[in-house]
Amino acid sequence: MVPPWGSPAAHGAVPGRVVVLGGGVVGAACAWRLAGRGHRVVLVDPVPGGGASRAAAGMLAPVSELHHGERELLELGLLAAAGFPRYVADVERAAGGAPTGYRACGTLVVALDAGDRARLADVRRAQERLGLDVRALTGRECRRLEPLLDPGVSGGTLVRGDHQVDPRELLRALRAAARDRGVEHVAETGEVLVEDGRASGVRLAGGAVLRADLVVLATGARAHPHAPVRPVKGQVLRLRMPPAGHLLTRTVRGVVRDRDVYLVPRRSGELVVGATTEERGFDEAVTAGAVHDLLRDAQALVPGVAELELVEVLARSRPGSPDNLPLIGFGEVPGLLLATGHHRNGVLLSGITADAVAALAAGEDVPPEVAACDPGRFGSRTAAREEVRAR
Ligand code: GLY
Repeated sequence: MVPPWGSPAAHGAVPGRVVVLGGGVVGAACAWRLAGRGHRVVLVDPVPGGGASRAAAGMLAPVSELHHGERELLELGLLAAAGFPRYVADVERAAGGAPTGYRACGTLVVALDAGDRARLADVRRAQERLGLDVRALTGRECRRLEPLLDPGVSGGTLVRGDHQVDPRELLRALRAAARDRGVEHVAETGEVLVEDGRASGVRLAGGAVLRADLVVLATGARAHPHAPVRPVKGQVLRLRMPPAGHLLTRTVRGVVRDRDVYLVPRRSGELVVGATTEERGFDEAVTAGAVHDLLRDAQALVPGVAELELVEVLARSRPGSPDNLPLIGFGEVPGLLLATGHHRNGVLLSGITADAVAALAAGEDVPPEVAACDPGRFGSRTAAREEVRAR
């Protein structure tokens, strides 16, 4: 049978040459999984992990990030969260024991005033209707779980299944695992090379061409002619908690006078506070107003935040798609597989995306939750994709 993207050398059991464009958590995971299937993989990125992965807080939060009308994203996120322990165990093993910072610590969502409590109750009703594991708490019950919450916290929701990972550690482990599998890294920018209507490789900024049987596009929020993604700016802070006496034991998300804020405490003592959501094009400038607002809202929930050392302030762009579902699958150009548009969920969805990319590259089926992410939902279908579906 003719393979779906036209090259027997790269199909299924017959390994081929693959270039992965973009070395954030999604690209690195794809490179690692593809190499595990025997492909010769080159990962192209001038600064791997320097984009959205660098800012990501690492919340694995399909339930607490539920938005009305995003049922498919919820199903995808739940599938990814269920598979996350196996994914990180695989990565850690493949990376010779390097940690990923996975913590099954759950998430507490809290509200400050009566309006915030009403908003939380509204979301909780939607979560309950969907059969999700959520539990309403009084303010006192919230403080019993997290004693350093402000006395003004008036209620909350416990989400036992929303955990966390450290994206920087995960990426380090993925890169080590990929290297061990023989993935080469080229530290340059590159563009998809389209010849005779199909992707035939990547042209590097320096002019050299890397020929490939398959190109995987994992470039995140950068504008790209083959992927309808837009940058959604997020500003995020990193603080340091004292070695003795971490402020929080689990992720705390909050609604503070109708604004959202989250605090993600790591075992290392790092506390991530985020994040803004700004539709303003590609912009990595940190603003005084955003830092002020995040600190004000974090302190409103946990006053002890004021005492912490502020270590880092960062702005990066999430890759938003038109419907907030990622783009996973063959795009308009044969030979090009998209793995982008993960918006607020790149870390959570990195493992499931990599598994899907490796499966699609071999002409295999993907779970229905991932099939819903077919880029064809936004436009024309390619012959390549039709061939895959006809198999
Ligand atoms: N998932 C959290 C964020 O994107 O800010």
